[in-house]
Amino acid sequence: MAPRTILYTGKGGVGKTSVAAATARTAAAAGIDTVVVSTDPAHSLADCLEVEVGSDPTAVGERLWAQQVAAQEEMERNWAAVQEWLGEMLLERGVDRISAEELTVPPGMDELFSLLQIKRHHEEERFGCVIVDCAPTGETLRLLSFPDVARWWLQKVFPQSSQMLNAARPFAKAVLDMTLPGEAVLDDVQRLVRNLIAMNEILRDNEHASVRLVMTPDRMVVDEARRTFTYLNLYGYLTDAVIVNRVFPEEVGAYFGPWRERQLAALADVEAAFAPVPVLRAPYFGEEVVGAPMLDLLGAEVFAGRDPAAVLHDGLTQELVVGADAAELRLDLPFAEKGDISLKKIGLELVVRVDGHKRTLMLPPALGDYEPTGASFDGAALHVTFDGPS
Ligand SMILES: Nc1ncnc2c1ncn2[C@@H]1O[C@H](COP(=O)(O)OP(=O)(O)OP(=O)(O)O)[C@@H](O)[C@H]1O
Ligand SMILES: [Mg+2]
Repeated sequence: MAPRTILYTGKGGVGKTSVAAATARTAAAAGIDTVVVSTDPAHSLADCLEVEVGSDPTAVGERLWAQQVAAQEEMERNWAAVQEWLGEMLLERGVDRISAEELTVPPGMDELFSLLQIKRHHEEERFGCVIVDCAPTGETLRLLSFPDVARWWLQKVFPQSSQMLNAARPFAKAVLDMTLPGEAVLDDVQRLVRNLIAMNEILRDNEHASVRLVMTPDRMVVDEARRTFTYLNLYGYLTDAVIVNRVFPEEVGAYFGPWRERQLAALADVEAAFAPVPVLRAPYFGEEVVGAPMLDLLGAEVFAGRDPAAVLHDGLTQELVVGADAAELRLDLPFAEKGDISLKKIGLELVVRVDGHKRTLMLPPALGDYEPTGASFDGAALHVTFDGPS
């Protein structure tokens, strides 16, 4: 059976690694064989668990394994031929060796290869639960969201490309002074495309895979999480919970009073932006979240008796269909009654009010020039239509 796969993402420093490790400990304690996988080269997972963690799953407790993927090794395994070919080409063109090496690895590529561990665990079925501590903001997840383009390459371009390249090789060398990529390079690219398609299927299986957004109750952090939420929805990745970490408790006292007020306002924004996705919270502890007792405390606060491995919310809450000159947005509003609807678009932000419920969402940049033209509510979801730039 496919393992339950949970990806944690969010802005830098908000508590992704802590919450991922706490989730893994809580799931393992509930009797599930669990691995927590980190793609962070800073080895923060080992620090937070206070154990040694290798690049393969390392036993770190009862039913619990941890893994810090060695991005460099994954790159070498998967991308060596491309690196060699591109590197030589750049060197021939006078780029110095260090820059050439940098240039052969597009940004996010190492993270992407690290994420292929998800596919490995999916195929091996050794663990019941796979928890992934992702890079900030889940940029890499975007790279996994173009399976149609990838499929097209695979079907239309690759079958012909090696024959075409073989035919063009002498010409390219003689006339363009350029070495065309060989079979090994094509193999690397082809394997990558296949992997992207497979990963996309794994992550869009909403019965088993979901993303959880970690944030602190700070305006800028929340705004970034909202942008991530929008594109996760648009690409069909399920967000089944958001975690607001480091919330000042009531007893924080007068000195932090104004901070607490601001946090409460940000928490209201979080509810307005993410409902009906459950909003889980954890307090700002008096000490770092390091070691088993603190991680278990964090797990208990975040899940408050919920099953950490459950799919905590099913169904995408937004869906956007963009046509050439119009677009339609579906927005779940399960708690609203039929009533007055008001819409306001400020830049890329859409503010929707239905029957006293306020929902705000960040539209994707592609809708920047679109204007909302109408809205209807069918009792469970709001449908907003947009007209494109004329
Ligand atoms: N609820 C909390 N109360 C107090 N300290 C916390 C809390 N959550 C996390 N921390 C501490 O905040 C720091 C950052 O947390 P963590 O490393 O989990 O964040 P991160 O999002 O993984 O960061 P990065 O983006 O650098 O990977 C750590 O020192 C951690 O122990
Ligand atoms: Mg981290």
